[in-house]
Amino acid sequence: MIRVGIVGTGMMANQHAIMMGKIRGVALYCAFDLNLESLDLFCAKHSINKTFQTLDEMLADPSLDAICNVTPDRFHKEISIQALKAGKHVFCEKPLAENYQDALEMAEVAKESGLINMVNLSYRAAPVVQKAKKLIESGKIGEVRHVDASYLQSWCNNFSWGGWHDNPAWLWRMSTAHGSKGVLGDVGVHIIDFASYPVGKIETVQANLTHFPKGENGKWKEYTLDANDSALLTVEFENGAMGTIQSTRWASGHANTVKVSIYGTKGGIEIDLSKSMDELQLCSGDKALINHTWKSIKAPKSLNNFKRFIKGIQTGVQDSSDFKRGAEIQKIIDASIESNEQGRKVALDLCD
Ligand SMILES: NC(=O)c1ccc[n+]([C@@H]2O[C@H](COP(=O)([O-])OP(=O)(O)OC[C@H]3O[C@@H](n4cnc5c(N)ncnc54)[C@H](O)[C@@H]3O)[C@@H](O)[C@H]2O)c1
Repeated sequence: MIRVGIVGTGMMANQHAIMMGKIRGVALYCAFDLNLESLDLFCAKHSINKTFQTLDEMLADPSLDAICNVTPDRFHKEISIQALKAGKHVFCEKPLAENYQDALEMAEVAKESGLINMVNLSYRAAPVVQKAKKLIESGKIGEVRHVDASYLQSWCNNFSWGGWHDNPAWLWRMSTAHGSKGVLGDVGVHIIDFASYPVGKIETVQANLTHFPKGENGKWKEYTLDANDSALLTVEFENGAMGTIQSTRWASGHANTVKVSIYGTKGGIEIDLSKSMDELQLCSGDKALINHTWKSIKAPKSLNNFKRFIKGIQTGVQDSSDFKRGAEIQKIIDASIESNEQGRKVALDLCD
């Protein structure tokens, strides 16, 4: 039995508890949160019997094998490193850290520990993403030339997910002082991974980031709402392709629309996750290219991230969504912020 503890019992922790709870051979063993009210409600909801007064106490429990770090972004580093040093496997929420240096340190501690470490790049689990990677590797669309990726949300201007005005979970996402890298650090992480995982490494980035007027003169309660909420990135890939990656919280009419189109010398792949997680559109072959015809391709099932993390613990084989990958993405985020501030293209030195 693998005993898992949840650190941070807010919104996203519910998904961790539900998904971990469904895996055979896993016990939802304990939880910890600084907010005791949230902790109690969460434990009651997910039938978790064991809680601790401090994180130190929790990590000192020899029966605990692994933690899910579901705290806000600015606590990811400290808690994950502490857990790794205490000998626990760590499944950390995204973005891995607040900046590349911190993320790199996490990746180094994880490597030294020899423990399983994973960052929750949610869309890796989508069967179509794995299928797209395989199709590209097999040469089905030739050499990739152009990529167009977008992640659209609209919670800044509607209350379908609850209003942001009275929910700290939305408010900290809007405030740089609370460790947020805005939409770029929130869902931009996913779309950067989604665009580059099947295509290859990103070599340069030119970014435009902005936040729009909100609250009362840009403030609400103790939060200054200054984190970016629209991000436009133009990127060049190592293999010569170029692409656009965009994310926003102002896409009226879109709750959570994730799309990636990849065009190559011999064909194209189009994915719209809001329509299907396991079916993509493919244009490939001489006839299809001349007639611009597309066909649906069904992708085989793939394991969700929670199962992949547990499988890693069971087999000792590290998943590719590891802290090193989390750090790589963090580097792209840092470069985007630098590019936006300096109004120029920024080159990333590629890590292997
Ligand atoms: N992978 C995804 O698709 C996805 C989706 C949503 C959220 N997330 C990530 O999950 C994380 C949590 O987001 P959320 O929406 O659940 O936030 P939230 O604000 O709802 O919950 C965070 C919880 O952590 C607790 N907390 C804060 N500091 C703590 C500390 N030092 N020790 C223990 N507990 C602490 C808070 O009291 C709160 O209960 C974020 O990093 C977010 O980016 C990922």
